Amino acid sequence: MAPANAIPSGASAAVLMPSEPMPDFAVSVEGPNFEQEVSLKQLLESYKRIGFQANSLGKAIDIVNKMRKWRLSDEPVAEDESEEYLDPEVRAKTKCNVFLGYTSNLISSGLREILLYLVKHKHVTAIVTTAGGIEEDFIKCLGKTYLAEFNLDGAELRKKGMNRIGNLIVPNDNYCKFEDWLTPILDAMLAEQKETGQVWTPSSFIRRLGKEINNEESVYYWAYKNDIPVFCPALTDGSIGDMIYFHSFKNPGLVVDIVQDIRNINELSRKSKKAGMIILGGGVCKHQIANAMLIRNGADYSVYINTGQEFDGSDSGARPDEAVSWGKIRAGSESVKVFADATLVFPLLVAGTFAQSDQKE
Ligand SMILES: NC(=O)c1ccc[n+]([C@@H]2O[C@H](COP(=O)([O-])OP(=O)(O)OC[C@H]3O[C@@H](n4cnc5c(N)ncnc54)[C@H](O)[C@@H]3O)[C@@H](O)[C@H]2O)c1
Repeated sequence: MAPANAIPSGASAAVLMPSEPMPDFAVSVEGPNFEQEVSLKQLLESYKRIGFQANSLGKAIDIVNKMRKWRLSDEPVAEDESEEYLDPEVRAKTKCNVFLGYTSNLISSGLREILLYLVKHKHVTAIVTTAGGIEEDFIKCLGKTYLAEFNLDGAELRKKGMNRIGNLIVPNDNYCKFEDWLTPILDAMLAEQKETGQVWTPSSFIRRLGKEINNEESVYYWAYKNDIPVFCPALTDGSIGDMIYFHSFKNPGLVVDIVQDIRNINELSRKSKKAGMIILGGGVCKHQIANAMLIRNGADYSVYINTGQEFDGSDSGARPDEAVSWGKIRAGSESVKVFADATLVFPLLVAGTFAQSDQKE
């Protein structure tokens, strides 16, 4: 009989089960050490070893830096390569096309200034967003959006003519100013359409507004200046739609054609020698980019930052692997989803990538 103070052998075997040795490539968990001075770059580098979503952010930084560094000259000449891409100089200049997507609320937030930075410095090739993501940029040129609280009373705000977006407030006057600014532009666009027979597309519409605003504080002013197409398949789902609705009574006939734009985005994707996606949030901006990637048999680099969950089957919540199954992300390519509010994470991602002057562009 075992002595009374003996540990039960079954229990000790269960608790103290020996482990197999860790593989050589295993990385240990470690956080930043603030006992020493930590630069922003070192702090961002430390995310890779913190664990959980911090790891995913570290991986996202690596993937975006790979998108930025890639050149066609890094790869052997394909057997069926077209004439124009045989020239070594052309190959050395051919970069990965970066498709950037974001939800409307992010233009309402202070991420707008970061998005502007990316567009101004030509860090992205094309943009997809939703209607609010277009109009709120122009509206911010006409009046300010203010910080507030999530728990403000809706009925009280309505009485005061204040509109709430999360913990931000937009005075309704801003939308009145938007109508005053937009209506004569719609008149001019309709007149040009009647004169030339050329109908508008969401992207040519946005480009025109970017030209008209003529303000360096606008993301779409820089998109116009830098010839970066901005796609918005559901352009009418916001204040722009309200204005187009009013305009259709006052001065009917404006046509905005989505067919030409689906061709434009899909052709841009098809012709990309390498293609990367950076998508903040879900819904149309996420899927329209992923769908365009299908045309080229999938994206080569994919970074999602969103709060969506997959248990409801939503595309917003779908992880990159779901897009692999559809051919929208190439099997074996690098991808990550950071489960987070983009307002927290995207400034860090840009600080660790596009804003680093020592990274090859
Ligand atoms: N300011 C506005 O949000 C605004 C203004 C006018 C019109 N609208 C219209 O509302 C419709 C729906 O908006 P939408 O498609 O842009 O997106 P959405 O607001 O419906 O968001 C889609 C999904 O993206 C994710 N997401 C959103 N914000 C996020 C964040 N900060 N961080 C991480 N993930 C986030 C969530 O999973 C969310 O379910 C659009 O047609 C748009 O034009 C929105």
